[in-house]
Amino acid sequence: AVSRKYSIATMGADGIGPEVVDASVEVLKKLVQVDGGFELDFENFDWSSETYKKTGKYIPDGGLEQLKKHDAILFGAVGAPDVPDHISLWGLRLAICQPFQQYANVRPTKIFRGTSSPLRKAEHGDLDWVIVRENSEGEYAGQGGRSHRGHPWETATEVAIFSRVGVERIIRFAFETAQKRPRKFLTVVTKSNAQRNGMVLWDEVASEVAKDFPDVKWDKMLVDAMTCRMVLDPKSLDTIVATNLHADILSDLAAALAGSIGIAPTSNLDPTRQNPSMFEPIHGSAFDITGKGVANPVGTFWTAAEMLIWLGEEDAARKMMEAVENVTERGISTKDLGGNANTKEVTDAVIQELEKVY
Ligand code: NAI
Ligand code: MG
Repeated sequence: AVSRKYSIATMGADGIGPEVVDASVEVLKKLVQVDGGFELDFENFDWSSETYKKTGKYIPDGGLEQLKKHDAILFGAVGAPDVPDHISLWGLRLAICQPFQQYANVRPTKIFRGTSSPLRKAEHGDLDWVIVRENSEGEYAGQGGRSHRGHPWETATEVAIFSRVGVERIIRFAFETAQKRPRKFLTVVTKSNAQRNGMVLWDEVASEVAKDFPDVKWDKMLVDAMTCRMVLDPKSLDTIVATNLHADILSDLAAALAGSIGIAPTSNLDPTRQNPSMFEPIHGSAFDITGKGVANPVGTFWTAAEMLIWLGEEDAARKMMEAVENVTERGISTKDLGGNANTKEVTDAVIQELEKVY
């Protein structure tokens, strides 16, 4: 009898989101079948920009309580051409992340077997990073306002807030993440030369927290210089921690350096486990390819594997990633990775491969 059972809320939301989430659910169902050690229950939530346009709300009344009953959330992407991006992002994604205190956003990147990096000198194994992004405050806390609208002297402020509690918990989480990886190496990214308040607090807290992790080596970088290091010396990096804004930008760069934004996952974690964590591909709703059946599902497959690791099913997650990489290695990939397969062909190939890796 199966004893380990998890309930998963799925929410494809907008654009290619439902396409890649549906593909991942198919793969997960196959994984459960071949593994036999655990079960997944799926409940689909159809909240999206369509819901917003019909009802004026992304999340219905009582929605978060419903969501909270689940062990994890598998999310697609939110954003529609006819809804301003700040409305969609704050209406759905941040409206889940913030009340659920998913303060750690974790973004691994690597070069898959059979794929190539746009960096001439980087090959599989040369770029293997985990970016830890502060996910609750900083530049995206929503502090600020607009005055004198429409006048030439109109003024807007976007205030970055950094609390000692917020900075300490994310830096501690990053040290723990680095400690679990073979190289045990953390790079703390700030901009403490120019941003002399919040970023200096980050530097101070990093030095304090580092004392609790004597086995983790660490160094500091300014964010601008960090972009150069990522491009010129990818092998010199392993685990990276940065603020909400800085890590948002660095992680898109990381995904592109690894070959495509279509392969990278994101976990929005509540490390206290009081609330469900949310897992999503790094990419957005990609209007330009929506409905064509050509979206790369690999980013969401990796996302689903990260979700399984968080739930404690590491072996199954490893098998799933082995199947995915075997498929990319055989050259079965979507256009963004240089292949000519569509979403369904990649998904079917991974499903077939799962039989072989078990
Ligand atoms: P995007 O990630 O949707 O697309 C950027 C480019 O990458 C496009 O050319 C797209 O076709 C391509 N791309 C993205 N995912 C792909 C995949 N799986 N396979 C193949 N190609 C892929 O970013 P963009 O265009 O800046 O944003 C579109 C919408 O998505 C906006 O409304 C934005 O706000 C939203 N968005 C939502 C996110 C989320 O829900 N977490 C994250 C990023 C953007
Ligand atoms: Mg982003």
